[in-house]
Amino acid sequence: MRRTSVSCTKGMSEFRPGEPQDLKEPQLCIRVAAMPSDANAYGDIFGGWLMSQIDIAGSVVAIQAANGRVATVAVKEMRFLKPVSIGDLVSLYGRLERMGNTSVTVKVEAYAEREVDRNKLQQVADAIITYVAVGDDRQPRALNAPLHQLAEDF
Ligand SMILES: CC(C)(COP(=O)(O)OP(=O)(O)OC[C@H]1O[C@@H](n2cnc3c(N)ncnc32)[C@H](O)[C@@H]1OP(=O)(O)O)[C@@H](O)C(=O)NCCC(=O)NCCS
Repeated sequence: MRRTSVSCTKGMSEFRPGEPQDLKEPQLCIRVAAMPSDANAYGDIFGGWLMSQIDIAGSVVAIQAANGRVATVAVKEMRFLKPVSIGDLVSLYGRLERMGNTSVTVKVEAYAEREVDRNKLQQVADAIITYVAVGDDRQPRALNAPLHQLAEDF
């Protein structure tokens, strides 16, 4: 059966460790099944669970852009578009929106493959999150001053 196509998959890049990544292209950051412990008594997944996944997914892009440690400083916009249910398989895609002096802004989109119908794929949420590159002292660090150099043979 044909899958519902989503704009997010257009030009989607696959992460390969050690290879340069176009962070402006959406990349799959997390794929996770929603569990009963993430839901209320009606089987609806808590918004906080999805917010947490979105924050972690965005940080995957931010860490690459900042070449090291980041802290979430602001969630500019968070939209819950459709409910998520137990057993849904949630995929979170992140792409770099903007790089400032010390901050990185990432757009994250979440899609659910429905447990009741695996061929049904729906966007369930999106968010724009800003992260700040920080040093060991937890203070902002310039993006052109990486925390550490990646090992050449990584
Ligand atoms: C992140 C933190 C180190 C930033 O320190 P700060 O003194 O506020 O930093 P600055 O005011 O110098 O701002 C740093 C950057 O963040 C950006 N920024 C700060 N607040 C922002 C906001 N509300 N929205 C968007 N960007 C913001 C600034 O524009 C700046 O970006 P730029 O350097 O690219 O121009 C500090 O706020 C902090 O530790 N916050 C807690 C982070 C945390 O614990 N997050 C997890 C929560 S559980």
